[in-house]
Amino acid sequence: MTPQSRFTLEDRLPADYFSNALHADVTRGLGGTPRTLPPKWFYDKRGSDLFEQITRLPEYYPTRAEQEILTRRAPEIAALTRASTLVELGSGSSRKTRLLLDALTAGGSLVRYAPLDVSASALEEAGEAIRRDYPGLEVTATVADFETDLALSDEPGPRLLAFLGSTIGNFDAAQRQTFYRTLSLALSSDDVLLLGADLVKDPEVLVRAYDDSQGVTAEFNKNVLYVLNRELGADFDPEAFDHVAVWNADEERIEMRLRAKVAQTVKVPDLDLTVEFAAGEDLRTELSCKFRRETLTRELYEGGFTVRDWWTDPASRFALLLAVPN
Ligand code: SAH
Ligand code: TRP
Repeated sequence: MTPQSRFTLEDRLPADYFSNALHADVTRGLGGTPRTLPPKWFYDKRGSDLFEQITRLPEYYPTRAEQEILTRRAPEIAALTRASTLVELGSGSSRKTRLLLDALTAGGSLVRYAPLDVSASALEEAGEAIRRDYPGLEVTATVADFETDLALSDEPGPRLLAFLGSTIGNFDAAQRQTFYRTLSLALSSDDVLLLGADLVKDPEVLVRAYDDSQGVTAEFNKNVLYVLNRELGADFDPEAFDHVAVWNADEERIEMRLRAKVAQTVKVPDLDLTVEFAAGEDLRTELSCKFRRETLTRELYEGGFTVRDWWTDPASRFALLLAVPN
């Protein structure tokens, strides 16, 4: 390969993604009870930047906890997998991924890094920086929706498929099953899944991680309203909503919501939609499910994966696991 071709960025989102998928999601979500929106629409350029700020907040422990585990275990992961390709779903800034890239290149097995994200801006920034810092590595970035297009194909194997940051927790149980099944069918017998999952803990610690004192998470949450205003001509007033993070103890998940401060009418002209919010009514924008070892191991098994290794940070806040197709 010529040096110029070591970083490629392929946009695999359908041409009508921002019309079709966004239209369908918003029509269904805003029309339903309770009102909901799927989380992938947070991540335009501003949303990706705000999320990167969240990962540096004192209250948001998951990034640091996962980083601690990766720092300690990356050499072991490299030795166990001998991966030629590191595929990463929802790679974002790829910051923690560098610990894996370091270990896998030191071990001599790695040929290619294949990040996939719905955010083109995040992939461009991260991909360029990694190409610069890891000469000799092929970086093939893909803009795609991992719910509908996993885009695995001809990567040199064995492949290590990383899904970090507890993004798995943004799916509900049914979506997770579909995801595991699709993934286990797409992987070969010598491929390995590396999954990061946030664990159940003191609800006060959890709520603070999603409702920080500087209000960065609140801005991130409201960003989805700016996206709808821009993409669909909606007239949401983001300041007319409060950011709320609620611990749902029955489902063991944090629910991010936007709560209407006063009764209001929102128009979405591109969808011919008018939505009436009562005062105090919630729009649910994100789930962040928290996990326990036994139940996560079981649901993975039902979805086609056997957990081989399970590591936590010293404070047992977060888990990183290796699993293989059954
Ligand atoms: N892995 C990083 C980023 C986690 S944030 C970390 O651990 O810090 C979640 C990432 O997943 C964002 O970069 C977002 O753009 C991406 N994402 C969310 N939904 C997605 C989808 N449906 N398809 C592809 N990427 C998605
Ligand atoms: N995967 C992250 C998590 O659940 C995403 C996230 C962090 C998030 N903070 C958020 C999503 C605030 C919406 C709002 O931890």
